[in-house]
Order: sequence, then structure tokens, then C-alpha cells
Amino acid sequence: MIITIDGPAGTGKSTVAKRLAKDLGFTYLDTGAMYRACALWGQKQGVDWDNPDELTDAVKRIPLRMENDCGSQKIYLGEEDVTDQVRTPEVTAITKFAANNPDVRALMVALQQDFGNRQNLVTEGRDQGTVVFPGAELKIYLLARAETRAQRRFKELQEKGESADFQSVLESILERDRLDESRAVGPLKPAPDAIFVHTDDLNVEQVVEKIKSLMKND
Ligand code: C5P
Repeated sequence: MIITIDGPAGTGKSTVAKRLAKDLGFTYLDTGAMYRACALWGQKQGVDWDNPDELTDAVKRIPLRMENDCGSQKIYLGEEDVTDQVRTPEVTAITKFAANNPDVRALMVALQQDFGNRQNLVTEGRDQGTVVFPGAELKIYLLARAETRAQRRFKELQEKGESADFQSVLESILERDRLDESRAVGPLKPAPDAIFVHTDDLNVEQVVEKIKSLMKND
């Protein structure tokens, strides 16, 4: 069984998908981390961002490895655990070069589909219900106001001890929405059969329970 959780940045996809996977005993797949790792790899390889083919060639050789479990994913480049590194604002800022590159997307989509063929999955991203797993049994699309999402990201960064200011977090979220929605390949958009869940006024537990109740109704 495959459950897809898509939606804009900061809607709670990761937290919800992790918790749901843990409760159900399904494998958790964080596809955003894969695009982040591609960008980090490109940076480490010194690719020229103005030449997308350089990143494609680098990603063809990426030593990407993931350890996925119920409720967790660790991501490696070779032997190096880059799980935390891919979430820094610096890597967030360059991830668009990977996410907007159709050839990189094709490589990642193939990896994700191969993954889904082998196990029960809760997978989160932008295109999981539309492009990667159009036949998924349950498709969820999470939504929340931009201010709510920025507040969550801001808190997350503060808790990690990283310096951040609210206004730039909000601006970066709005910029990412714009890029994610306008991408020619694999844009952020709900699948026609996705179920919308607004997370502004719900805590993680409530969102997870709502998704579980949708599974029962399906
Ligand atoms: O979800 P997360 O913030 O980690 O995703 C990082 C970036 O990767 C997003 O801004 C989005 O542009 C891209 N992404 C994507 N397709 C996915 C998951 C993430 O393009 N399936």
C-alpha cells in the first residue's frame, strides 16, 4: 500500500508522514531530502549551476544511500551521513537547481518508484500523488497559511540553534511556493483524487488521526 503526502513547504508533511509511517509500520520516504542531497552533491562536485547538464552528469554518479525505517530516514553521500546537512538554509537555497532539472527529476522518480514497488510506503513530497505514484491507494494534500508555515520553520530553526529571522523565513517559503508551483516538470499540485487536509488549527496527532480515518473510509 502507498500513501502519498504532498503539499507546500511547512505544512507539516515530514512530521505527519513520519508519525503515520511509524504507527502503521510502513516505510517512510522523504523525497525532498533526495533533491536536497542531489544539490549538495552538485556543490561538492563544484558543478556550474548555470549549466544544468553538469548537475545531471554529477547526479548520474551520485553515491546516494538511504536508510529508511518506520518513521525515519537517514541519507548518505557515500559514507557521509548528510541527513542534517541537507536541511541547512544554505542547501535549501541551492535545492532548486536539482528540483527544477527534468533529468535529475527523472532519475529520482525512478528511484522512488523502485522503492515503492518493494514495500508499504508513506511518501512525502510535491509530486508523489501526481507523477510518482498516480495509482497510490490514498493521496493526501496538506495545506496551511504561509504565516503558519513560516512560524513552524522559524521555530524548527531556532530549536536547532540556527540563526533565523521570521521575515526572511516567510519570504523564503513564499519564494519556494512560487518555484514549486511554476516548475514545468513535477510541479507542486494536488492530484485530482487527493484529499485536502488543512493543518492550521490541527496538531500532528489530529492530522495523523484524520488520515487514519480516511484509510478506513477508503
Ligand atoms: O520537502 P522539502 O522542503 O525537503 O523539499 C525541498 C525542495 O525539494 C522543495 O522546495 C521542492 O522544490 C523540492 N521537491 C520536489 N519534489 C519532491 C520533493 C521536494 O521538487 N517530491
